[in-house]
Amino acid sequence: MKVFVTRMIPQDGLRLLKEMFEVEIFEHDRPITKKELLEQARGSDGLLCLLTDKIDEEIIDVLGIKAIANYAVGVDNIDIKAATERKIPVTNTPGVLTEATADLTFALILAVSRRIVEADKYVRDGNFKGWEPMELLGGDFSGKTLGIIGLGRIGQAVARRAKGFGMNIIYHSQSPKEDIESELNAIKVTFEDLILSSDYITIHCPYTPETHHMIGIEEFRKMKSSAYLINTARGKVIDETSLLLALEEKLIAGIGLDVYYNEPEINSKIFGYSNVVVLPHIGSASIETRTKMSLMAAKDLIAALAGKKPPNLVNAEVFD
Ligand code: DGY
Repeated sequence: MKVFVTRMIPQDGLRLLKEMFEVEIFEHDRPITKKELLEQARGSDGLLCLLTDKIDEEIIDVLGIKAIANYAVGVDNIDIKAATERKIPVTNTPGVLTEATADLTFALILAVSRRIVEADKYVRDGNFKGWEPMELLGGDFSGKTLGIIGLGRIGQAVARRAKGFGMNIIYHSQSPKEDIESELNAIKVTFEDLILSSDYITIHCPYTPETHHMIGIEEFRKMKSSAYLINTARGKVIDETSLLLALEEKLIAGIGLDVYYNEPEINSKIFGYSNVVVLPHIGSASIETRTKMSLMAAKDLIAALAGKKPPNLVNAEVFD
């Protein structure tokens, strides 16, 4: 059998795949285009793809693949409905990237609120002339309220970190999480209450039609003017026009972003605001995590191509 991998990933997973299959890896260090994917992966049995690859119905049909392993936990880049209708298993990489993504979320919370990037620039620009009583003042964490949108694995890992910082934790979630509320000291609130009363808001829900533009101008207007918003989930959960307006009108104190509306394009107006910290979608970018992701994706693809139910199957209906 043949497997096509859309970009170089850590060797551990590739080694496993090579023991079982003929493996072809897209040779360039950039995302593959749709045209290249259609030409080069045609006739492959399995596809190992990235969140930067849009796997639509046409690609699924033309390639004639039997299984798809996404090298990410989010699967909004894949037409799951089309894959399911064709009985093609789709897998993702949950769990292994939880801690790394929660770490990065907290790094953003700290960076935005304590103005780390601004402060670094201040020093490099030669402005540090000695301890200042009124320079680069930011926000505290202890006793402040962190509002978590989506209390799945990553949201919970962020809550554990917040507990260590002495924060009060509130959350909004579609599914019940009562069992972990006491461990996390987390209180379930309505979406509106979370928006109204959080000092920090962090997004950890998947991107779906229901979460599209979940944060728009109405929500920004309801937030505390001292609030910080962090997004390490998916860009389109926030309406970008509203985000820019919120910055322009100083509706909140700061924003930390690892994901964007139209990745990799970023509306350059965002760069004009020093109270925004921008990262290049590096939530899972630790050596250990990416290695685990490559192994997980490879093992799932091996199972799926052997006709077995892969451990991290997204579309369970395929095996019903
Ligand atoms: C994912 O896996 O969905 C993350 O966005 C990767 O960093």
